[in-house]
Amino acid sequence: MSDLSEAKTVASPRLDVDRIRQDFPILAQTINGKPLVYLDNAASAQKPVAVLDAMDRYYRECHSNVHRGAHTLGDRATSAFEGAREKVRTFLNAKSPSEVIWTRGTTEAINVIANGLAPKLRPGDEILVSHMEHHANIVPWQMLAERTGAKVVPVLVTEKGELDMESFDSLLGDRTRIMAITQVSNALGTINPVEELIARARSRSVITVIDGAQAVPHFQPDVQAMGCDFYAFSSHKLFGPTGIGVLYGREQLLEEMPPYQGGGEMIERVTFERTTWNVLPYKFEAGTPAIAEAVGLGAAIDYLATIDRSAMEASERALLERANSLVETVPGMEVIGTAAHKVPVLSFKIAGLHPSDIGTLLDQQGIEIRTGNHCAMPLMDFYGVPGTARASFAFYNTLEEVEKLFAALRKIQRLFV
Ligand code: ALA
Repeated sequence: MSDLSEAKTVASPRLDVDRIRQDFPILAQTINGKPLVYLDNAASAQKPVAVLDAMDRYYRECHSNVHRGAHTLGDRATSAFEGAREKVRTFLNAKSPSEVIWTRGTTEAINVIANGLAPKLRPGDEILVSHMEHHANIVPWQMLAERTGAKVVPVLVTEKGELDMESFDSLLGDRTRIMAITQVSNALGTINPVEELIARARSRSVITVIDGAQAVPHFQPDVQAMGCDFYAFSSHKLFGPTGIGVLYGREQLLEEMPPYQGGGEMIERVTFERTTWNVLPYKFEAGTPAIAEAVGLGAAIDYLATIDRSAMEASERALLERANSLVETVPGMEVIGTAAHKVPVLSFKIAGLHPSDIGTLLDQQGIEIRTGNHCAMPLMDFYGVPGTARASFAFYNTLEEVEKLFAALRKIQRLFV
């Protein structure tokens, strides 16, 4: 019996969502007189007590600057900070902590890469992205193209919101130098076959960049198995604090790249004649870093390690399946993005209602979703819509909350269309 068929016969352990919700104090409140239903997790996820406590404890007991002080607090802060880097290294399965660079988030990570790869590009070179990218994985490449004379080339998507593999294969060409693709679409929830894309790109010596911002809250990446050169994600989508993110880069490429910002910490020696750079990862970390935030992200990773991954994935699949099964109960509702492989994200429109009105009316019932273009204007243009309403679920959401969303949508549709 194969591993796969064996896996099918074993039921996943059930996720104890009621208990998990107790770890997220923000969820236990009312909004506009109704129990909060938080369905805007793709924009930013909520934080467990473990993260809040770790940051509080850090500031109460350990805070000082890192890598500097010849004193006890300096040592405590440095070991908490570097300990968090090691947690991220393990989370990503990177080879070395030198490959884990702290940034402000995914956006800054992609900007660091785009800046660092400039010396490798010549006029006419191509940077392959896709129509489903977030602006953060389009605009830095356009800026790089402007500087170098390279061209940004977008891979098409299908009507279902999947990457068009024929388009990918026809556009991956002799001039392609960089492939920058998202693992999961923030606007649609589509999971892209990144391992396959990376393998095809690498067979042509193309540098591969994966935007993992929307993937990490749902599954754990393994950068070595994936084979990518760069991987970026933000802490705040992984149940950690805002203001910090991660750039994973293959050591050799990071060594070859120029620093992004100049300042303290990123240097080895400064003279007015010549300045030399610090070793990795510090070469890319100018200035005092977000120390407490790194500690918070480390705590989020530890917290997630206590939760059964397969139960979490099964629970999230059940949320999406329930949502999909209820779509036909809302007259005029249409889901945008119906890929075969999705994380629990439901982007939709309702005939006769503007997405922002849907958002406002849901908020009146305590239900928080995001509306608009989701920083993915080219994708909205492809679908011919100004924006969508988007409900995005996390492992702490319940089937009852899905039911509440649809009951509210039916009510809005009845009263306002
Ligand atoms: N990129 C985040 C989103 O999709 C903000 O909502």
